[in-house]
Amino acid sequence: MKITNLFNVGLIALAGLTFACGGGEKTTETTEVAVVAPEPVKEISLEEKYQNDPIYIKGLEKLKASDCTSCHMVERKIVGPSYAEVAAKYESTEENVNMLAAKVIAGGVGVWGEIAMPPHAALSEEDAKDMVRYVLLLKK
Ligand code: HEC
Repeated sequence: MKITNLFNVGLIALAGLTFACGGGEKTTETTEVAVVAPEPVKEISLEEKYQNDPIYIKGLEKLKASDCTSCHMVERKIVGPSYAEVAAKYESTEENVNMLAAKVIAGGVGVWGEIAMPPHAALSEEDAKDMVRYVLLLKK
């Protein structure tokens, strides 16, 4: 009995010693820490975010060949809604791609306001769909 008790006391004393030592070391560590200014948070644009996506590359190429950019920007509303707004409103499903491609070809008004999108009758269904897939990719 006595021996076990003594052993326990010894253990506690040892634990106390380790703790004291650790505490002492900590204070020396803090003095050595250099103050580093936080990195500024860099916001990446949607163009940067999706630039390597094949849907992005293909759609953008076709879009550039048309007049879309005169009324639409990626992240800012001009004459028409921004692509980011359109992407936030519609999931990129086959159904939505078909519906929006048909609207690009036929033109239309009333979803985003009083200004109408003119028809793009010369566009093929396939090209319009590729453009819309690109638009719906641009989610924040
Ligand atoms: C002359 C200006 C103009 C041009 C050019 C234009 N748009 Fe639009 N677009 C608009 C406007 C305005 C709206 C909003 C229509 C509405 O409120 O229903 C719109 C809406 C859209 C929508 C969302 C439709 C909906 O029902 O939510 C898509 C997608 C779109 N445009 C894609 C395109 C593409 C792709 C092109 C190029 C082929 C293009 N637009 C060219 C003005 C334009």
